[in-house]
Amino acid sequence: MIIGVPKEIKNNENRVALTPAGVAEFKKNGHTVYIQASAGVGSGFTDEAYEKAGATILPTIEAVYEIAEMIVKVKEPIASEYKLIKENQLLFTYFHFASSEELTHAMLERKAICLAYETVEKADRSLPLLVPMSEVAGRMAIQEGAKYLEKPMGGRGILLGGVAGVKPANVLVLGGGIVGTQAAKMAAGLGANVTIMDISLPRLRYLEDVMPANVDTVMSNEYNVREAIKLADLIIGAVLIPGAKAPHLITRDMLKDMKPGTVLVDVAVDQGGCIETCTPTTHENPTFVIDEIVHYCVANMPGAVPYTSTLALTNATLPYAIQLANKGWEKACKENEELKKGLNVVNGKIVYKGVSEAWKLPYCHISEVLA
Ligand SMILES: NC(=O)c1ccc[n+]([C@@H]2O[C@H](COP(=O)([O-])OP(=O)(O)OC[C@H]3O[C@@H](n4cnc5c(N)ncnc54)[C@H](O)[C@@H]3O)[C@@H](O)[C@H]2O)c1
Repeated sequence: MIIGVPKEIKNNENRVALTPAGVAEFKKNGHTVYIQASAGVGSGFTDEAYEKAGATILPTIEAVYEIAEMIVKVKEPIASEYKLIKENQLLFTYFHFASSEELTHAMLERKAICLAYETVEKADRSLPLLVPMSEVAGRMAIQEGAKYLEKPMGGRGILLGGVAGVKPANVLVLGGGIVGTQAAKMAAGLGANVTIMDISLPRLRYLEDVMPANVDTVMSNEYNVREAIKLADLIIGAVLIPGAKAPHLITRDMLKDMKPGTVLVDVAVDQGGCIETCTPTTHENPTFVIDEIVHYCVANMPGAVPYTSTLALTNATLPYAIQLANKGWEKACKENEELKKGLNVVNGKIVYKGVSEAWKLPYCHISEVLA
């Protein structure tokens, strides 16, 4: 198969969908790979490194879309890319169709095959192509939180780990899933006193077993949250209710109960946020202050560490991409339920229920396109 990797053109997106190691894997499997010039530079991969691995560099995005049977990307195509997409072309990338009606219509019109990273799903309902980015965001949440706790950054001037004779900071993590677990591990490693809250008792039991001694687990409910925020120096929002907006565990009136200079990092901001006063921010302007409380609400945190994020993402996507290339999308999806769940739009039809429901557009059962 002919694989094409365009350079990401979404604002501030420095990740790339394939590393030189990935190119080598495709070559080993007998495929041809075209990479747009400088596609990997933002993640630290030169054109020469791709060429060495066996790829051909093309000068323009148009040339990549023109030649490729499968486009592997990171972010959804943006408006200027729509016209480049060809009928029957396979696109393997994040789409998040349910958050863009325009993109949904555009892909229906182009009659492409859209296989979305975010809906590839394992039998245990986990989302293997979202996990790596949650891991990155969870770890980064503590790094960013520690930075904004510094006085010159607006925080209350407390060092997460304290020093001999001085108590460490208190870190409260709301939600003990992928993001929350990684955040708690990082905070604990830096010596902070960490509390994780979740509504799932089995999850709390698991965390109690695996976390170090400076991490406590507490059931999440309004009473416990209200008590915990009074003591916290750094609060991480990491709650997710699949397919729904995040619940506001911290409401506006609760800010007055916090210590001035407390830092809130709402990682869940991409699902509406679990802190009422959080609205999405960007890496250029990541924070704002309300009632002396610092809010960090960057919606694409992994974008700031493209090297790590690219490697983490491609480690997870490559095995699926190789299957798609080796078998073609139809056979690969028939033989692999996980990949099949990734199909969202096929030749002008919506085959993913959530997308048809989001925009009240006709739904076509997957069996009709995968005969
Ligand atoms: N901002 C970013 O750049 C970025 C990056 C990656 C992920 N995210 C977001 O981070 C959020 C968390 O992702 P995840 O992968 O950790 O999800 P996850 O499903 O692994 O974990 C969510 C956890 O929240 C818990 N939860 C649900 N309701 C709760 C409540 N009322 N109180 C406490 N806990 C509750 C669940 O039991 C679960 O353990 C998602 O919204 C995800 O989209 C954001």
